[in-house]
Amino acid sequence: MSTDKIVMQTEDLKVSFPVRRAGHSTTVQAVRGVDITLRAGETLGLVGESGSGKSTLARALMRLIPSEGTVKLDGRDVSGLKPGAFRKERKRIQMVFQDPYSSLNPSLTVGASIAEPLKVHTKLSAAERAERISEVLALVGLNADYADRYPDEFSGGQRQRVAIARAIVLNPEILVCDEAVSALDVSTQNQVINLLEELRDKIGLSYLFISHDLAVVRHISDYVAVMYLGEIVEEGPVDRIFGAAAHPYTQVLLNAVPVPDPVAQRATTKLLLRGDIPDPTNPPSGCAFHQRCPFAMEICAQKAPPKVEIPGGGVAKCHLHTSGPVLAGRAISSLTEAGTETGIGAAYDGTPKSTLPAVAVSGNLESSL
Ligand SMILES: Nc1ncnc2c1ncn2[C@@H]1O[C@H](COP(=O)(O)OP(=O)(O)O)[C@@H](O)[C@H]1O
Ligand code: SF4
Ligand SMILES: [Mg+2]
Repeated sequence: MSTDKIVMQTEDLKVSFPVRRAGHSTTVQAVRGVDITLRAGETLGLVGESGSGKSTLARALMRLIPSEGTVKLDGRDVSGLKPGAFRKERKRIQMVFQDPYSSLNPSLTVGASIAEPLKVHTKLSAAERAERISEVLALVGLNADYADRYPDEFSGGQRQRVAIARAIVLNPEILVCDEAVSALDVSTQNQVINLLEELRDKIGLSYLFISHDLAVVRHISDYVAVMYLGEIVEEGPVDRIFGAAAHPYTQVLLNAVPVPDPVAQRATTKLLLRGDIPDPTNPPSGCAFHQRCPFAMEICAQKAPPKVEIPGGGVAKCHLHTSGPVLAGRAISSLTEAGTETGIGAAYDGTPKSTLPAVAVSGNLESSL
C-alpha cells in the first residue's frame, strides 16, 4: 500500500532534442515542464498516445538523457549529478523495457546478465553473486538452474521475468516499467502484472508504470497521470480518473477503449479525437490540445490553462474548469450530454473550432491514434 513518503519527484522537467527539419535546425520539445510525484509503495500509471513523451520522461528520470528542471530521489536533487556521481543513485531506480531482447544480451547466459549490475555496483564475491541470482530468479518465479541458459531458450513472458530479475537484483526502490507488458499476449500479460504486484508488496517497490493500454493501467495503478504532447494534462487517483475524467483529452482516451457490449457502446455519448498529434517542434499556443478539443473556446488558443484541483483528487489543466462554463471540477463526461445538464450551451455552441474531421478511434491506442 502506498504511504506518504515521496520516493521520486520531478519539478518542471523538460527534455528537448535537437533535430534538422527541411534543412533547418530546430528542437523536438518532447517533455515540457512535467511535475510528477511517486509515493512509496505506489504505482503511478502514465498514459498517453504514442509520441506524447512517456518514454522520454522515463529516460530522463533514469538520467539516460540530459534534461532541465529537477529530479529528486528520496528528497535529494539528483538532476545536477554527472553520470559518475549518479551511479550510486542508479541502484535506487531501475527500468524494465517493452522488449527484453533489447535489455538482455543474447550472447550472455541469463545468470551473466543478472550478474552484470552486481559486478558494477557491489563488491559481492562470485559465490555471493550466484546466491543472489538464485534468490531473484526465485522471486520472479523461475528455477535457479535457468541461470545457465540463454535468452532465446525462453518464452516472451519468461524473458520479461528475467528482465525484471535483473532490474530488482540491486534492491531498487523504484521500478520504471515502460510498456513492460505491451508485447505479451493477454494471459502472459496478466501473469507478469500479478508478479509485479506481488513484488511490490514483497520487496517494497514503487512503480512508474507506462502503458498505452488503459485497461492494464487501470488494473495496476493507484494514481494515474495523463500525458499529452510533453505535458501532464490531468492526474488523480485511478478511480477518479476512470470514473470522472476532468480533462477532455482523458475522456477521449477513455472513449478509445472498446466497450465489449455493442449496445452499451452505442449508448455511450462519445467524445472523439480529431486530427493528428501536433508537431512537437512547434507546439500549439495556449492549450496544446485546442485544435483537437471538441470544447475549445476562444481563450484556449491564447492562454495555457492553469492547474485546477479536481474534487475526488488530483488536478487537470483545462480552461473549462476556470474560464469555461459551469463545470468546476465535474466530470467532463457530464458535458457530452449535449450540454444541457451543465448549461454549457451558453458558452459552447456545439461547433468545434477546428474543421478537422471527427474520427472514431478504437482498440490499441499505439496503433490507432
Ligand atoms: N532521440 C530523439 N531525437 C529526436 N526526437 C525524439 C527522440 N526521442 C524521442 N523523440 C520524439 O519525442 C517525442 C516523444 O517521444 P516518446 O517519448 O518516445 O513518446 P512515447 O513514449 O509517449 O510514445 C516524439 O515526437 C518523438 O518523435
Ligand atoms: S483548455 Fe480548452 S482546448 Fe484545452 S482541453 Fe480544456 S477546453 Fe479543450
Ligand atoms: Mg514509448
